[in-house]
Amino acid sequence: MAIMFLFFYAQLPLWTSQAMQTNQTDRLALIYFRDRVDEDPFGVLNLWNDSSHHCKWQGVACSRRHPGRVVSLNLTSKGLGGLLSPHVGNLSFLIILRLQNNSFRGEIPQSISHLFRLRSLVLSNNSFGGEMPTNLSQCSNLEILNLIDNQLVGKIPDDFGSLSKLRLLGLTENSLAGSIPRSIGNLSQLYTLSVGLNGLQGEIPETLSKLRGLGFVQVGFNQLTGEIPPALFNISGISYFFTSGNQLRGSIPPYIGDTLPFLTSLDFSSNLFTGVIPPSLSNASNLQHIIFHNNSFHGPIPANLGRLKALEVMYFSYNQLRDDYSFITSLTNCSRLETIGVNHNFLEGPLPDSLGNLSNSVRVIDMSNTHVGGTIPPGIGNLFSLSFLDLSNNSLVGRVPPSIGALHNLHELYLSRNMLMGEIPSSIGNLTLLNRLHVSFNDFYGEIPQSLGNCRQLIELDLRNNNFSGSIPKEVLSLSTISIIFSLAHNKLSGSLPSQVGSLANLIELDLSYNKLMGPIPNSISNCLLLERLSLAVNSFQGEIPPALGTLRGLQELDVSHNDFFGKIPSFLDQLTDLKYLNLSLNKFEGEVPKQGVFLNATAVFVFGNGNLCGGIAKLNLPSCKSNTSQPFWIKKARVIATVTAILSYFILCLCLFIIWYRRKMSKNNIPSSELPFEHQLSWISYEELFRATNGFSENNMIGKGRYGTVYKGTTQVGGWVAVKVLNLSHRGASKSFVSECRTIGAIRHRNLMKILNVCSSVDYHGNDFKALLYEYMANGSLENWIHQRNEENVEHGHEHGKPKHLGLMQRLDIAIDIASAIAYLHEDCSPKIVHGDLKPSNVLLDNEMKGRVGDFGLAKINSIATTKAMDIDNHSSSMAMRGSVGYVPPEYGMGNMASTQGDVYSYGILYWKYSLVRDLQKRLSRTI
Ligand SMILES: *[C@@H]1O[C@H](CO)[C@@H](O)[C@H](O)[C@H]1NC(C)=O
Ligand SMILES: *[C@@H]1O[C@H](CO)[C@@H](O)[C@H](O)[C@H]1NC(C)=O
Ligand SMILES: *[C@@H]1O[C@H](CO)[C@@H](O)[C@H](O)[C@H]1NC(C)=O
Ligand SMILES: *[C@@H]1O[C@H](CO)[C@@H](O)[C@H](O)[C@H]1NC(C)=O
Ligand SMILES: *[C@@H]1O[C@H](CO)[C@@H](O)[C@H](O)[C@H]1NC(C)=O
Ligand SMILES: *[C@@H]1O[C@H](CO)[C@@H](O)[C@H](O)[C@H]1NC(C)=O
Repeated sequence: MAIMFLFFYAQLPLWTSQAMQTNQTDRLALIYFRDRVDEDPFGVLNLWNDSSHHCKWQGVACSRRHPGRVVSLNLTSKGLGGLLSPHVGNLSFLIILRLQNNSFRGEIPQSISHLFRLRSLVLSNNSFGGEMPTNLSQCSNLEILNLIDNQLVGKIPDDFGSLSKLRLLGLTENSLAGSIPRSIGNLSQLYTLSVGLNGLQGEIPETLSKLRGLGFVQVGFNQLTGEIPPALFNISGISYFFTSGNQLRGSIPPYIGDTLPFLTSLDFSSNLFTGVIPPSLSNASNLQHIIFHNNSFHGPIPANLGRLKALEVMYFSYNQLRDDYSFITSLTNCSRLETIGVNHNFLEGPLPDSLGNLSNSVRVIDMSNTHVGGTIPPGIGNLFSLSFLDLSNNSLVGRVPPSIGALHNLHELYLSRNMLMGEIPSSIGNLTLLNRLHVSFNDFYGEIPQSLGNCRQLIELDLRNNNFSGSIPKEVLSLSTISIIFSLAHNKLSGSLPSQVGSLANLIELDLSYNKLMGPIPNSISNCLLLERLSLAVNSFQGEIPPALGTLRGLQELDVSHNDFFGKIPSFLDQLTDLKYLNLSLNKFEGEVPKQGVFLNATAVFVFGNGNLCGGIAKLNLPSCKSNTSQPFWIKKARVIATVTAILSYFILCLCLFIIWYRRKMSKNNIPSSELPFEHQLSWISYEELFRATNGFSENNMIGKGRYGTVYKGTTQVGGWVAVKVLNLSHRGASKSFVSECRTIGAIRHRNLMKILNVCSSVDYHGNDFKALLYEYMANGSLENWIHQRNEENVEHGHEHGKPKHLGLMQRLDIAIDIASAIAYLHEDCSPKIVHGDLKPSNVLLDNEMKGRVGDFGLAKINSIATTKAMDIDNHSSSMAMRGSVGYVPPEYGMGNMASTQGDVYSYGILYWKYSLVRDLQKRLSRTI
């Protein structure tokens, strides 16, 4: 018997001997914890199995004094997804619970409040929703409570004030409402108070000034009102102070730099603050970021800020500061300076030469709209890190120094609306990274430098309203990257329009109006497939309107007025369904005005000053095209016969031509003939909009991830959910897929196919390419989820959508029919046929009516949709697609006219920068504390 027992005992793994003597509760709780996790990409929890003691499991640490009892559960950044089991509340010896940077969802279980030994609770950067557990205050040993970056709602519980040992309270980036509880003032150990990026209202409670140990205050991006309690400015340890994006008023006390000597970052931007910028700030010698933009500060810019050796960012834009630019001289001592933003203030006087003596670490200079005068100092060429330079809307005179060509890192250059003159230095061609060049409304003259053709990253070129002469350089027209605007309007350019204009395959707006251009419109214009606005007005263009224009199906505005065009008004113009403005006036057009399409709207069409036009709708007040009634009958009859014959033969001819054209098109075109839309009918959305829509591409909004990109859920201003696929451009082929997906899905429409709503092709603030596709959001997820659902998920879905837990037979049949219709369409009705190539349940999405849509959503590779075979059929379009430069759309596109462009670029930059600063700090907090 004893032998048998020994034998049995020996068979057991070693740990069991220990475990048999100890409490099994913790092991069970961990197993329950494990079983609620349904995503574990690194297989961390697979190692939590019977072959080892639970104290040896990864991320688990046990007590020495109480064997078998878990004191720490640390599963930081393990990619885990799922619910957090309430059994975690049974780990009653737990001191540390860290699950940050995972994808846990659902509510934070109430049972957490049983963990009265807990000192550190870090659940940041997950997708926890619902309200916070009510009795968290029972965890009276809590020192760190970090729930940053989740989706928590409700109020901050009042009884948090009783967590007397709390050092860190992190609730930033949730959806909390209500006010900041006064009781927070009782947390006498608090160092970090981070409640920004919520919907908190009311005033900042006065009681906070009792927190003598406070060092990090983040209350920004809420709806807080009132003044900052003055006593807060006496808490000498504060180093980070973020209040931006509220409606706070009042002024900054003059002594701030003396009472807060350890300040590092001070962000009071986008509030209602008034008063002057206190010169005492220069006493806070650690200051790196002073961010005051978008308030009502007045008075001068303190002349002694140059004493701040660590200063990196100075953003004073959009205030009422009144000064000259002498502060620049002081800033030359700041060797780490990166950003100077003073735009939209009243800073008169000349731009000092000392600008060139600023640290060459400076990356952003925005001095637009400040009344600055004088010339651009040649020394500007020393600032070789400069990436963004905006001097527009000022009173600058003189020439642009050739040294500007030394700014090799420049991405954006804005010089519009000054009194600059002379030639654009040809060294501009050295700026090979330039994305945007705006020099409109100046007195530049001479030829447009050919060297501009070296700026192969250019996406906007605006040379409007200058005195440029000579012909349009072919090199510049060949910049196929230019996509937003290409404007040479109101200059003195002559010669003809080179056929290289056809290289502008990504261009949305081409404005050549008010020049002295002549000759015909080149046929190659038919390659500018994305054109929406084309103006050739007030030039000396000649000839007929070429049929090539008819291929520009996205054209919305066409202005050819005041030229020497002649011939009939081509009938294809009434087929351009997007056309909203058509100006044909002051030419030599003749014959009948069509009565279809845009011609139906008398306020959208201008035809005056053409002499021999007739017909059209009555409102155009043109003479009718019918023949004169006073003529003898036989003449009429003869005319009728002649006309009928002519029309008939014309018709037959047209028919023949059409058939030929149609056949060619069918054999050539990569786009299904059954439907009109081309990719340029897709509308474009800005990076900024996407950034907002997806909460800054927050991981909380992430709904899928694959080789080619990441899919986020987002809300657009127009309303409703969308899915945003952001391409991982570092993956080889991703850019190509973008183009092919645009061309393929963008060109076809079927009720059972996913529709691309929008396209974003842009650069992010770091100048990196950014491409994304917007789809309708499919509320019911993928078919795969429904077929291979785990029970828990099922329950969740059931709750969320009130839908049945399982797909019924009829539902399955319906979905199967939906898929079949989509595939039949792709195979039978599209020309050439499109082979999906990757049809599987995860690529079938279900809308809110449970209708199936074939798509390709995150996990699959996109260019499988357009097979290489399909691409080969049309070599021309495939080569276009392969070039991979389908164009870039900047954040401001679609936000209105060009005048507002720079402000938007700017505020976008700020927003992005600020947001990333705050996020960086939050991330650092949630990692290190
Ligand atoms: C384990 O310990 C808990 C308290 O820590 C107790 O409630 C439970 O009854 C114990 N279970 C066993 C099997 O001893
Ligand atoms: C169980 O965990 C051990 C490590 O603790 C690991 O080596 C083993 O592969 C795991 N077994 C399974 C089936 O995952
Ligand atoms: C938690 O785990 C992470 C990564 O596994 C590690 O870097 C970190 O130091 C751990 N923290 C604690 C408090 O154990
Ligand atoms: C563990 O926690 C669950 C849920 O909170 C509870 O129902 C259960 O009784 C607990 N088990 C033990 C052994 O404490
Ligand atoms: C521009 O580049 C050319 C050739 O690389 C060089 O000779 C010239 O000095 C550069 N100009 C400036 C202003 O950097
Ligand atoms: C006619 O054109 C004008 C100007 O483009 C536009 O505002 C109006 O909405 C159009 N009307 C119709 C019925 O399309």
